[in-house]
Amino acid sequence: MNPNSDLHYALEAKYYTSKEIFEKEKNNLLSTTWLFACHDSEIPNVGDYFTFDLCDESLFVIRGKDGHIRTFYNVCQHRAHQLVQGKGNCRAIICPYHAWTYELEGNLRSGPNLASVQNLERRSIRLQEVKTENFKGFIFINFDNNAIAMDGWFPGVKTTLGEFVPNINLLKPMEWVEIPEKCNWKTSVENHSECYHCQINHKAFSEGVIDPSTYDIQPQGYCLRHTTQMNDCANMSYNVDLSVPHAKEYTTFFIWPLFAFQVYPGNFLNTYHWRPEDVDHCTVWRGWFSEHGEHDEVISKMVIQDRETTVAEDITLVESVGRGLKSRGYKPGPLVVDPSCGVNSEHSIMHLHKWYREGMDL
Ligand code: FES
Ligand SMILES: [Fe+2]
Repeated sequence: MNPNSDLHYALEAKYYTSKEIFEKEKNNLLSTTWLFACHDSEIPNVGDYFTFDLCDESLFVIRGKDGHIRTFYNVCQHRAHQLVQGKGNCRAIICPYHAWTYELEGNLRSGPNLASVQNLERRSIRLQEVKTENFKGFIFINFDNNAIAMDGWFPGVKTTLGEFVPNINLLKPMEWVEIPEKCNWKTSVENHSECYHCQINHKAFSEGVIDPSTYDIQPQGYCLRHTTQMNDCANMSYNVDLSVPHAKEYTTFFIWPLFAFQVYPGNFLNTYHWRPEDVDHCTVWRGWFSEHGEHDEVISKMVIQDRETTVAEDITLVESVGRGLKSRGYKPGPLVVDPSCGVNSEHSIMHLHKWYREGMDL
């Protein structure tokens, strides 16, 4: 119960510490929202596949003969052996247990001695598919077969992202940085979704990349759109090509609940995606993109600077919050919701909590 109903309060600690609530999140919120799988350049050829785990499920994406990318539960429809591991290429999906063989599009092709089984409708057997969408080369899945398309969730994002990153079709991952964090995934996502802490904790970012005075975050459907101008050219930690569109802007499209596209001044695309591991551990993946995935010296320096400054600083913050949320001495405090928004406002956290309550039926 809020002590003052005009105020917005942080979520109660149990939402970050309760194993039961974490289980409910996997079955509710995370089973009905769009979650990142991989970049389509990781499976460029027919038969390429990539396995990954989400919400206790092993899944794999695979490119069919028709060029389409599909996602399947990684489980054989005979007696439940897992089908593939890691990443690779295959002409058909062959189960290691009894060699039932599936087409790349999921239908059962054959199996040893299947012809001897009377009344078996082979065509009725196919791998269980998960709804999949290619969002500008980024593959997302949704466990809810009735989920509306990502454009409905994140209106206008595809178009604006394309304007900020005109070469997005040429981009491939140059580097993935894996960051384990000892905290609940929401602690990490909330930390990413406000810049109230930036000037105090992120000197390199606030002085060498962005101008905090113009920073704002606004909802756009279920996207949180961060916008600001870049810092003075003289202060920038790298040289920005000012001839590209939106060169002097910094923007982030946070795709609720576990992904963000981030565009640094000069149109440098990098991404965040979060993988909840258990109630108080998550992994954050930073993706850095270059044309054709080729080595780029400027990006390489940015990766190092980001890892040594913003990422390291944020780990300290979120892990401290992770410990604090387990303290009996913590009572949820009021969010700093400034009606005029801006860098020192936490209205963005208020939006996250609204979406969280919706997704969890609270
Ligand atoms: S479990 Fe896959 S062929 Fe038997
Ligand atoms: Fe931060």
